[in-house]
Amino acid sequence: MVVGGGGREHALVRALGGSPSRPRVLCAPGNAGIAADARCFPVKADDIEGLLGLVRSEGVDFVVVGPEVPLVLGLADRLRALGIAVYGPGADGARLEASKTYTKRLLQKYAIPTAAAGLFDEVSPALAYLRARRAPIVVKADGLAAGKGVVVAQSLAEAEAAVRDMMEGGRFGQGGRQVLIEDCLLGEETSLLVVVSGRDYVILPTSQDHKRVGEGDVGPNTGGMGAYSPAEVVTPALLERIERTIVRPSVDAIAAEGIAFRGTLFIGIMLTAQGPQVLEFNTRFGDPETQAVLPRLASDPLELLWAAARGRLAGVRLSVDPDPAICVVVAARGYPEAYPSGDAITLPGSLPEGVTVLHAGTARDAAGRLVTAGGRVLGVTARAPTLLRAAELAYQACDALDCTSKYYRRDIGARQLRRP
Ligand code: AMP
Ligand code: GLY
Repeated sequence: MVVGGGGREHALVRALGGSPSRPRVLCAPGNAGIAADARCFPVKADDIEGLLGLVRSEGVDFVVVGPEVPLVLGLADRLRALGIAVYGPGADGARLEASKTYTKRLLQKYAIPTAAAGLFDEVSPALAYLRARRAPIVVKADGLAAGKGVVVAQSLAEAEAAVRDMMEGGRFGQGGRQVLIEDCLLGEETSLLVVVSGRDYVILPTSQDHKRVGEGDVGPNTGGMGAYSPAEVVTPALLERIERTIVRPSVDAIAAEGIAFRGTLFIGIMLTAQGPQVLEFNTRFGDPETQAVLPRLASDPLELLWAAARGRLAGVRLSVDPDPAICVVVAARGYPEAYPSGDAITLPGSLPEGVTVLHAGTARDAAGRLVTAGGRVLGVTARAPTLLRAAELAYQACDALDCTSKYYRRDIGARQLRRP
């Protein structure tokens, strides 16, 4: 059973369902597209009791958790206590995503490269620290904020306003009670998805996400507007360095802290002139990175996650298809702010080989028509011998699908395509 109902979960359902072991795949809550690939149950991803009930009534023997919230709420712990195999960390591991101050302290304790930072739970020392630094500078709310708790401030005045907003304005509730003020790192960002099981790990193919809503990386941050894999900027030599200075030490640090981590460690990395540095940890697959990464696995993804869930990852080797993949997110115009929903979607009648339309925020209306039901609506993915060809195929499908409120960036992959 896959928990969640976005594009990432559709990619997981497809990948797991395609396993040679021919599993029966369920999903909760799923969406209109996932419903074509797996039996969906209307239980929300944060309804822990509901999910536990479903696992019992359907006789589920393996749960793969998509989003962070159920992990933070202890879903994996509850399932493990029932003897159910689960891919996803317990609440102790999920804290690496849920608390940025916790993670910063861990990175500092184990000397893992990351931006220098001050951690504060009171306003005046935070402001005093700020005044001794220079802009640009980054202010982060401690807790989960759906990607909105980070302000890359271009001036100290902007940083000060962010600190006050988070600590006094109560915009992030408890999550903003503590803030982290860190040096701004310059460079290119990359997402590294690592399948972890205790001290064993398997690094998945590299990828890059486009976080800003607008073309040319402008405008507000979103959950992610598109992704591609591989990220060529991460050369084999650089990946070796990332593994040596970040991945191995992080996995060991987590284990040394007594966390039995079984799930995805998603490491946000800034490739700076001084070397790769950790921006953040997430404790789940990335969305939309997963939509570009999973289709490139030539080996069985179910076997991989099942091995990780049961502590049997040692010696597991990945086989990766060299063809690049791209995922263009089709959002509802207005996202990440207010956007319409219930807008009819007509998908292209046929899709060229290598193109898949994954669903994120979709539903069926009373008449059974496919309609929009979220900010990120679809993930059009394509795989081809070159990234350029993959992008062309994906954009043909984006253009061909009919939906009045559709919006997508036209430059997904452009940075890599423009690179000499
Ligand atoms: P986070 O949720 O911590 O990854 O932050 C969200 C986004 O803010 C990242 O993907 C980066 O684009 C940006 N960011 C976070 N920390 C820094 C930093 N220290 N320097 C520059 N940009 C950052
Ligand atoms: N695409 C970034 C994330 O999943 O957090």
